Amino acid sequence: MSARRTDRGKRTGSMDFIESLMRPKLDARLSQMREQAKRGRDPSAEDDTLQLLLTVARLSRAERILEIGTAEGLTSVALLCECKSARLTTIELDEERYRKAKENFVSFGVEDRVNAILGDAADVLPSLEGEFGLIFLDGPKVQYKKYLADCKRLLCENGVLFADDVLLYGWVDGSAETPEKRRMLVEHIREYLREVSSDPDFITSVLKTGEGVAVSVKRTCKGD
Ligand SMILES: C[S@@+](CC[C@H](N)C(=O)[O-])C[C@H]1O[C@@H](n2cnc3c(N)ncnc32)[C@H](O)[C@@H]1O
Repeated sequence: MSARRTDRGKRTGSMDFIESLMRPKLDARLSQMREQAKRGRDPSAEDDTLQLLLTVARLSRAERILEIGTAEGLTSVALLCECKSARLTTIELDEERYRKAKENFVSFGVEDRVNAILGDAADVLPSLEGEFGLIFLDGPKVQYKKYLADCKRLLCENGVLFADDVLLYGWVDGSAETPEKRRMLVEHIREYLREVSSDPDFITSVLKTGEGVAVSVKRTCKGD
């Protein structure tokens, strides 16, 4: 069980059982690297979040995947291992993480299928072209709403926008009190959830997986 999950309080034994089922079956080296990364400042996706993301990736049959917030590229690698013919574009602001991710792509043999971009997603997104079947939104939470128009433009019909960390310790849904210094962040996430949920071009579900996930599917242009 992760440190973040422990913060949200005790789980029952039956939840531990379900969590054990939701643990992705990954390459042993990748699993070990994920365990180390979980102790970092910007941890990789939680086990149940990653399991859901991999399920959605396969369900959507995405051939092109976009990730906003690469970190060390561990979720990128998991996605490319699950979707063997997919190509992934991923954006990271931090140069050290970008370099580490590039090393990881080489060491897992997926570098030919990755376009790793060093830069601020707010600058990079408007320059991207083409259609993506899946977008994993996992960069700065305060920017989610700002990225939404570009994500929508870049998604193909029936493409999936998978936004992570949208409930944050119960602060966003009000089940836990938000610390003063986090109130602005929570308001930004709420605005994102309001906007994407009320957009008629998307159908959205907010799930309590991990720290909360919003899964939005882009409707076809015919409105069906
Ligand atoms: C939660 S981590 C991403 C974890 C990664 N997706 C994974 O599952 O392994 C968020 C990442 O977003 C990056 N980031 C923060 N601001 C950014 C920005 N403006 N543009 C692009 N990346 C940014 C951070 O440096 C950090 O590595």
